Amino acid sequence: MPTEEPTAVVVPGALPVVGHALHLRRRPIPFLTTLPRLGDVVRIRLGRTQVFVPCRSELVQRVLVNDSTFDRGGGPQFERSNEFASGLAGCVHEHHRRQRRLVQPAFRTERLASYGAVVEQELVALTDSWRDGQEFDMFPALLDFTSGVVARVLFSSRAEHAASGEVAHWFAVLMRQGDAGCRGLLTQVASRLAPRTARRRHRPLIDFHQALDQILSDYPRPGENDGHGVGAGCGPRDMFSALALAREKGDGAGLTPQELRSQAITMLAAGVYTPATALTWAFFLMSQYPQCAARLHAEADTVLDGHTARWRDLPSLTYTERFVSETLRLYPPVWMFFRKTTADVSLGGERIPCGATVMVSPLMLHRDEDAFADPFTFDPDRWLPERITAASRRAFTAFGGGPRRCIGDVFGLAELTLTLATVAGQWRLENTSRKRPPAHACPVNLPPRHLPVRLRSRSR
Ligand code: HEM
Repeated sequence: MPTEEPTAVVVPGALPVVGHALHLRRRPIPFLTTLPRLGDVVRIRLGRTQVFVPCRSELVQRVLVNDSTFDRGGGPQFERSNEFASGLAGCVHEHHRRQRRLVQPAFRTERLASYGAVVEQELVALTDSWRDGQEFDMFPALLDFTSGVVARVLFSSRAEHAASGEVAHWFAVLMRQGDAGCRGLLTQVASRLAPRTARRRHRPLIDFHQALDQILSDYPRPGENDGHGVGAGCGPRDMFSALALAREKGDGAGLTPQELRSQAITMLAAGVYTPATALTWAFFLMSQYPQCAARLHAEADTVLDGHTARWRDLPSLTYTERFVSETLRLYPPVWMFFRKTTADVSLGGERIPCGATVMVSPLMLHRDEDAFADPFTFDPDRWLPERITAASRRAFTAFGGGPRRCIGDVFGLAELTLTLATVAGQWRLENTSRKRPPAHACPVNLPPRHLPVRLRSRSR
C-alpha cells in the first residue's frame, strides 16, 4: 500500500472514462512531445489506471536499469497472455535473470551469422517475387517476410521448409488480424456479440498452435539426447535448438518444456511485427527523401553490385545502417512500454507509490531537442560517430535499456540493414498514395497502417 500521496503534475485534458487514452491513440506524437514541458515526471490516466511518465532520459535510464523496483507489468501488452508471462519478454524480475542467462546463447555473435543466412534466403524469395511496375501494400508483405525469417531462424534445423512456412503463415495472419493486441478490446466485445464469427476469427490461432506443436514435437525434450552429436558450444544452428540445449552452469538445469514453448512464441511475437513496422517506415522515408534514397542506391551499388546483401557485407553498409537508426529514432516501433513499481520510490523528486504503472516512451525521448538537434528532421548523418553525443546515446531507447534491453537488437538491426540494402540495390519505390501513412497507434507498436507502393526495377 502506498505510504504517501503521489506527486507529479497531472496532465490536463483527461476525458471521462478513457482518460488520455484517446489522445495517445489518435495523436501520439503531438500529445507525447508536449509532456516534457509540463514536468520531469508527469501523470496521465489510461482508462482507470494512473500512469507516471518520466520525461527526461536520465530518469528513464534509472527506471530501465533498476529492474527490481521497476518490474515487468503495468501495461496492456504482456498481461493479456499467459504464454508471454512465462517467456523472457513477459516474466517478472524474479525469473528474468535465469531466463536471460539461458536464452542469451541463442543470440551469440557466432550464431547470428547463420541466422543472417536465413535472412538472405528469405530476401531472395521476396525480391524474386517482385515485378517491375507491380503495386502492392508494403506492410502486410513485410509482415509475411519477417514471419518467414523468424520461423526459419527458430526452426530451420528440424522443420521442413513447408512446416516452418506454415507457422510463419498463421502467425502473419494473426498479426494482420490484430491479435497482437491492436484490437484486443474490440475482439473481446465482438466475440461476445457474435460467437460464431469469433470462432471463425480464432481459427488461425488454433491452426497456429497446431502447426507450432507439430514442429516442437520433432525436437528432443530437454535432457534427451539430441542425436545430432551436439556438445557444449556447438550444435544445430537454429535458435530453438540453442534454447533447448542451454543449461545453467551450477545445476545444469535448462528451460522447462512450457518455458521453451513460451520462448518460441515470444521470439515470433517480438521478431515479426517490430521489424516489419520499422522496415515499412524505412521504405516510406526512402520514398520521401530522394537525396537519402540516392545515397542508399549508391552504397548498395558499390557494396552489393546487384547481389542480395550478406552478413559479411554489414560492415560496409554504413550509410544504410545510419538510415535504419534514424528511422528507429523518428518512428520507434515499440513507441511505449510499461513497468510496475514494487516499492514506494522517488523519481526526479516525485513520489511514486508501490504498485504504480510507469510508462517509458522512446517516441517522446527521440524528439527531445536537448538530445537531438532539429529533432523532427530526418537526418541519417546525425548517427555519424563524430556527431553522436552522450545525450543522444542516452535518449535512444528504440531497443529499451538496462537488463531487459532487447535481446534481438543486433540481429534486428542487421535484418533491417540487409533488407533495406538489398531492396535499394534492385528497386526504386514510388509511394502511390499522396497521403502520409497514418501512424496507427497500437498498445505495443506504431505501424503505418498502409504503405501502397509501385516498384520500379533499377536494372532497366
Ligand atoms: C527493429 C527491431 C526490434 C526492435 C525495435 C525491438 C525493440 C524492443 C524493445 C524496446 C524491447 C524492450 C521492451 C521493454 O523493456 O519492456 C525489446 C525486448 C525484447 N525483444 Fe526486441 N526489438 C526488435 C527486434 C527483436 C527481434 C528480431 C527479436 C527476436 C528474434 C526480439 C526479441 C526481444 C525479446 C525476447 C525481448 C525481451 C528481452 C527481455 O526482457 O530480457 N526483438 N525489444
